[in-house]
Amino acid sequence: MNPVVGLLQQLVVTRSVVAWHAVRERDPFARLNRAEGRRDPYALYAEVRAAGEVVPSATMGFQTASHQVCREVLRDRRFGVQAKDGPRGDGQMSLLELDPPDHTRLRRLASPAFSPRALAGYDERITAVVDGLLDALPADGPFDLVAGLAAPLPIAVITDLLGVPDASTADFARYGATIGSALAGPQSLAHVARLVAANRRLGGVLTDLFDLRRREPGDDVVSRLLAAEGDQLRPDELHPLVMLLLLAGFETTVNLVGNTVLALLDHPDQWRAVADDPGLAAAAVEETLRWDPPVQRTLRVASVDVELAGTTVPGGSKVLLYLAGAGRDPAAFDDPDRFDLTRVGGAEHLAFSAGAHYCLGAPLARLEAVTAVQRLAERFPRLERGGRLRRRSGTVIRGPVELVVGQPAAAVAA
Ligand code: HEM
Repeated sequence: MNPVVGLLQQLVVTRSVVAWHAVRERDPFARLNRAEGRRDPYALYAEVRAAGEVVPSATMGFQTASHQVCREVLRDRRFGVQAKDGPRGDGQMSLLELDPPDHTRLRRLASPAFSPRALAGYDERITAVVDGLLDALPADGPFDLVAGLAAPLPIAVITDLLGVPDASTADFARYGATIGSALAGPQSLAHVARLVAANRRLGGVLTDLFDLRRREPGDDVVSRLLAAEGDQLRPDELHPLVMLLLLAGFETTVNLVGNTVLALLDHPDQWRAVADDPGLAAAAVEETLRWDPPVQRTLRVASVDVELAGTTVPGGSKVLLYLAGAGRDPAAFDDPDRFDLTRVGGAEHLAFSAGAHYCLGAPLARLEAVTAVQRLAERFPRLERGGRLRRRSGTVIRGPVELVVGQPAAAVAA
């Protein structure tokens, strides 16, 4: 099917089905995609939790906001990411959409590049990028934290890691941001047209990058993947793999930085604590991953009938896992709605998922976010909210698209 027609069908059908269930049946998943869910998804996750550990959804099969059940499903091999009759191994799927054995093989190829060991020494480069961005911000004026720091940082880092030459970085950023916006599903006809165009152009830029690195291999992820092409990696698998690495790096870390700074500025005593001791930045990032994570939910499909917290989930059913809801589960965390960077104990958050698809970029994302928050606190210790907060319109990825902040003039002079 023509991709535009497919996307359009998805847009029209999804919109009307979701609207119907939101109004008629008060289905939390359907309501999540409406204004109330964008405003406060956490109230809806609490509603799901109050209804049970595993709750039927009119639009999705089953849904859960229980930490225990989310964790169990993510680690259970009887749940996969593909429907039984779904496409398999056609080379066009990214890691996130593949089950073993293809998933295992491709993940093994990509993971060494993102291991904590591979990243050792990369922190200097990240600090240099952060400092360069902070240098460009006005010390005495309001600025948009997203445009000034949170968005350009991951783009600079991932294009560098992938070996994208400087001349193509701006193209990657532009097309990547458009495609990343599709994670929430196409929003309008104009959006569909932009997605298709961006996808085609990014494909072209990637092909040029592969040609370049075949001719001139470097010490980068793409060059290493190209070296594995043939016996371990089919040529048609390279494109979706690199595309995922690029987009996963673009669309998530920006929101981790944005959500952490927003949470801290909305709790000024905690911002002050980080400003007094920037070493607390790591705790602030970790608490944000639990309290307001960038990736709010994921989906799994049961390959066989599974008994889950007393409910039979028939083989082939989808289970929607509210990772962000799991972070607010009182069975896993004391007083879970309180943002508190001195929190001790409690379960591990699921912001980076768990099991086979555990986020490959978690060490990199942490390194980037902690460095950004730490240096920001050192340079702007009196930072406060200074104007507009605009949020992303989608509900899979949560974070500000615009967060205006500033320092009072007296603090700058001091
Ligand atoms: C704050 C930043 C990030 C968050 C919150 C995040 C979150 C996640 C989550 C929740 C998943 C699993 C989804 C599922 O289980 O269905 C995932 C997978 C993945 N992430 Fe991240 N991510 C972040 C940053 C990054 C970065 C910087 C990269 C790399 C450049 C990256 C690369 C990946 C990859 C390749 C996968 C797929 C792993 C697989 O399917 O085996 N992520 N991420």
